[in-house]
Formats: sequence, C-alpha cells, structure tokens
Amino acid sequence: MHEDVKEILFTEEELHARVRAMGEQITADYAGKERLIVISVLRGAAIFMADLVREIKLPLEMDFMAVSSYGAGVKTSGVVNIVKDLSTPIEGKHVLIAEDILDSGLTLDYLMKTLGNRNPASIEIASLLHKRGTQKVDITCKYVGFDCPDEFIVGYGLDYAERYRNLPYIGVLKPEVYE
Ligand code: IMP
Ligand code: MG
Repeated sequence: MHEDVKEILFTEEELHARVRAMGEQITADYAGKERLIVISVLRGAAIFMADLVREIKLPLEMDFMAVSSYGAGVKTSGVVNIVKDLSTPIEGKHVLIAEDILDSGLTLDYLMKTLGNRNPASIEIASLLHKRGTQKVDITCKYVGFDCPDEFIVGYGLDYAERYRNLPYIGVLKPEVYE
C-alpha cells in the first residue's frame, strides 16, 4: 500500500492533534445543548468519526448513513443515492455530520437538504478535509480539519476502489495507480 502513495500530506500525529482540537471546539460549542447526534457518512468518514467522538466530552448519540456518489473511479458522478438510511429519528436533535472530505460538495448538499427536512434542532458539518477549488455547490462546513490539494487522497478512511482506508496517515495516491 505504502508504495502507491506519492506524498504524505498529514501524518498520524498531525491527524490526531487536529481531530483533538476539533473535538475541543465542538465540546465548547455544544456544551449545554442537549441531544447531540453525530452522523457519519460511511464508509470514508468512519475512522474520522471514531476518533472525533472520543474527543467530544459530551453525551452524544452516533448513527450512520451510507450514500454513493462515486463508482469505483475517482471523479464524482454527480448523482447521490442513499444506500443506508439512519436507524434513528433526528427530530429535535442537534445533528453534526462527520464527513471525510468535501470535494464537489454534492454529497453534503444532498445530506444537508435531506436531513434538514427532518426537523433537527440544528445541523452542522465537520469535514476532516476540504479540497480547494473543486466545489460545484456552496457548502458551509462549520468545522474543517485541513485544506488539501485537488489530487486523489487516500488513507485514514479514504479509499481508492475500497483500498487504502487503513493507512494511518493521509497521502496522495500516485496517478499511475488509477490511470
Ligand atoms: P463530493 O460529493 O464530490 O463532495 O464527494 C464526496 C465524497 O467523495 C467523499 O465523501 C469521498 O468519499 C469521495 N471523495 C472525494 N474526493 C476524494 C479523494 O480525493 N479520495 C477519496 N475519496 C474522495
Ligand atoms: Mg465519503
């Protein structure tokens, strides 16, 4: 796996420190609010969510959704489908969506609209990564871990064709792997 990575963008230590800081900020922002639910978008955000919730020092629920917007390739298809819906209602809850990466923004735009229609008390996004310059729709992420370049990123949950999710760091995939 490691030999397919062109460059390491964020080391395990950098990821840990940044996720901890995000958790501290979220803890401060949601202190005193009841019924926080962190929703992760499977599968890419699962590792980020697992680390993030342990840095949020408040009672919270976790739930999972799965959507598809990519096939096995590297460019978004622009079509978002719910593959797995939430197991619990979110009405009256403070929803925090944990996402791995904001790229075109189509996935998060769809989720904000779909979940926003279910009458949550509030809804915000925590995205570990934000690709710069690739947004097709306007999305406000209250919490962003890192900006990253418009290259194909793998590791710490992010895959290419379901591989590389278990890399402990985030790196750029060598183009020859997917070209
Ligand atoms: P968007 O709808 O274009 O913003 O795409 C969001 C989803 O595409 C993310 O949740 C990722 O699963 C996937 N994605 C976008 N860019 C990358 C990348 O560089 N590496 C791996 N997955 C990516
Ligand atoms: Mg994803």
